[in-house]
Amino acid sequence: MGEAEFVRFDPLLPEAGAQAMLRLCERFGRYGTYAEEAIADDFGGGLAQRHDAAINFVRTGGRFGRRESVARLAARTNYFRETYAYDRPVVSGIEPFLYHEGFSLAARKIFGRPLVEPNIVYANLLVPGQELAVHTDVPEFRGISRKTDPQWLIVAMHHSRLFEGWRIPIATGVAWFGNPRGGEFVFYPEGSSKPPVALPVRHNTAILLDTDSIFHGVDRVREASAALPDLRPGVELVHAGEGRWRLERDGAVLAHYAWDDLRFSISWKAYCFADEAERRVVHEHSDDLGRDQVLETLVGDLRRRGRIGAARPADPELALAIIDEYIQYPPPASEPQASEVRAPAGKAAQPPRSEPKASEVRAPAGGRARR
Ligand SMILES: [Fe+2]
Repeated sequence: MGEAEFVRFDPLLPEAGAQAMLRLCERFGRYGTYAEEAIADDFGGGLAQRHDAAINFVRTGGRFGRRESVARLAARTNYFRETYAYDRPVVSGIEPFLYHEGFSLAARKIFGRPLVEPNIVYANLLVPGQELAVHTDVPEFRGISRKTDPQWLIVAMHHSRLFEGWRIPIATGVAWFGNPRGGEFVFYPEGSSKPPVALPVRHNTAILLDTDSIFHGVDRVREASAALPDLRPGVELVHAGEGRWRLERDGAVLAHYAWDDLRFSISWKAYCFADEAERRVVHEHSDDLGRDQVLETLVGDLRRRGRIGAARPADPELALAIIDEYIQYPPPASEPQASEVRAPAGKAAQPPRSEPKASEVRAPAGGRARR
């Protein structure tokens, strides 16, 4: 677990480069929803991939404990996502972002690992009324990934801290282009029991942090009216030309938007290796974990904690025990206070440059992030 450090960028790119990201978003043109992937396998009795985050969102009503129907909460968090790079650019023009030197330098500094390997860039778009439930991202372990194992299990593995020797640290940069109303980036740099920081979203700024360890989410994008469009899976957000967007399903138009209505972010993820030997172990799979080993370790730990008895529970019960025991979500807060919507102390980074200054990398008092 890295310390809860983060680096901010203001600006991230020269303005022409930032405008190019907006044009790239338009050119890409069509965005589907980030509907949950199919259930990976039967372990857990068919829980959703992010059962942990979904159940917390529904149970608490989100960060502000708002009471709404499950269907409405699901619509709020059914945002739009497409991939701009996967190992290599998927769309031309993303190169200055994928290979951003400031991101790599900041990742080296925060993780203390010199080999930074950018691998994924994706766009998130939220329309008015949408928000992103508080969560930590799905980490990776050697031999365990979202391709083979349920996402809630991988998240719980990291929170248990029982498998850190196999974790592949991943740095995440999040950049914003455009100036939405609301949609603050909320994160908990001092741990889930301490107050969060709500960062207003401003054009051409970014933050880099360990989103696998630090709880984070997106506050609601301001809505002009209470009428949330029908945002069930299957809707698409489509660029309609001249900075206009529309929400579509099966060719029918459900809503119209201007750029200022939307919240557009681009995320950057990079593996952070200590050295070539570590990179080789990862790529050659010479010391991988297996599912049986993971479950045996967790069952042993749950027993030591008195959470389960001598007999191993049935899989669905075991799955819920794992989620409940290890993933400690932040409690919901009251409605936002003026003092809560604040920018963290510390100067913003100015990329590109040789090294982030010490003052720009902040570890809050209290040290390590508790998740
Ligand atoms: Fe995230």
